[in-house]
Amino acid sequence: MNKQVLLGVCGSIAAYKAADIARGLMREGLNVRVVMTTHAMQMIAPATFAALTGNPVLIDAFDEPVAGQIAHIQWAQEADLILIAPATAHTLAKLAHGLADDMLTTLALATTAPLYIAPAMNPAMWSHPATQHNVQILTERGAQFIPPAFGIMACGDEGWGKLAEVEAIVQHVAGAVLCPKDLQEVRVLITAGPTYEPIDPVRFVGNRSSGKMGYAIAQAARERGAEVTLISGPVSLPAPAGVEVIFTQTADQMLTAVQSHFEACDVFVAAAAVADYKPAQPLSSKRKRDSKLWALEMVPNPDIVATVAAHKGNRYIVGFAAETDKVVENALHKLKKKGLDLIAANDVSAPGRGFEVDTNQLTLFFANGIARELPLMSKRETAHALWDAILEGRHAK
Ligand code: C5P
Repeated sequence: MNKQVLLGVCGSIAAYKAADIARGLMREGLNVRVVMTTHAMQMIAPATFAALTGNPVLIDAFDEPVAGQIAHIQWAQEADLILIAPATAHTLAKLAHGLADDMLTTLALATTAPLYIAPAMNPAMWSHPATQHNVQILTERGAQFIPPAFGIMACGDEGWGKLAEVEAIVQHVAGAVLCPKDLQEVRVLITAGPTYEPIDPVRFVGNRSSGKMGYAIAQAARERGAEVTLISGPVSLPAPAGVEVIFTQTADQMLTAVQSHFEACDVFVAAAAVADYKPAQPLSSKRKRDSKLWALEMVPNPDIVATVAAHKGNRYIVGFAAETDKVVENALHKLKKKGLDLIAANDVSAPGRGFEVDTNQLTLFFANGIARELPLMSKRETAHALWDAILEGRHAK
């Protein structure tokens, strides 16, 4: 039987986007049942969701579409996940305090399924201490937030409060429902993104890493039940729900952060594109423009993964090798030199692979000499395939 997602829709202007969320979840093979608040009906009609999902839409706590069945108990028990998108400040407050004065909040109380919440509201309402306190209460209780994005609201105000991207919500929820929970009690440490090495207070040496692969690996691990710490360079990506994110700028800062979390991890995935060199002497004030040549002296950065792998104990260590030539040769050399258990190599010169794009194609090399070529697929799928390989590698070790 298909997995069931209960989609709760509240009366935010973004309620119309819930129709696309429902369709997206169904495209991923999920059965969707919609529960609306009465305010949501001011924004979008229940008939839209009923037609899209093929299921009745519940609103009032006493709605019983099938005679003889108590809908709020049955739907609550059959749900594999409950997603509230968009969630308003009012519904967050009710959820935080366990109120149950309509079908949505009654179902949320009656279910033991994981609760995912994608809020959408005016930025002032989102940042209000009352709302933030409710978010904290719900987070501590295990709810997973898909945080709102920054943008211009329907009312014209600008700030944090826009519903997260529909596709991001769909991928997040579908991933959470469909993936195996085989990383429970595994503590995972991941680096992601670029490092920025200062030249002067306004300039830096960086690279084109978007952080997407590392963030997808963090999210996939979390979906499979791991406890995840993500050490991130500067990126413009939302923090994956349920993941502890520590932001760093330079390779030296990233190394310090990794060293202080390495002890407590079982698996370390070094997905960051760490700058191999940094300016030898960053200037303390901005260098003015002139017509002279400017030669920048660079010194090597510490190798983060090699530094910690030197005393890895029984931890499983995974590195990446982004190459433009001699992919296999370079990857195997790095696997050995850095003391890794697994290296994921990709040819970043080929289209649809590596930096900035949403797809990737990796070849995995295990320390025991076995290689596995993964197909070109989304970074989310690639991340899950990588975790499959890491689990196999750990068992074989
Ligand atoms: O040597 P190269 O930069 O190609 O190695 C790539 C792998 O090593 C990646 O896993 C990357 O995260 C890691 N690395 C590191 N510290 C560096 C350079 C690379 O951890 N300074």
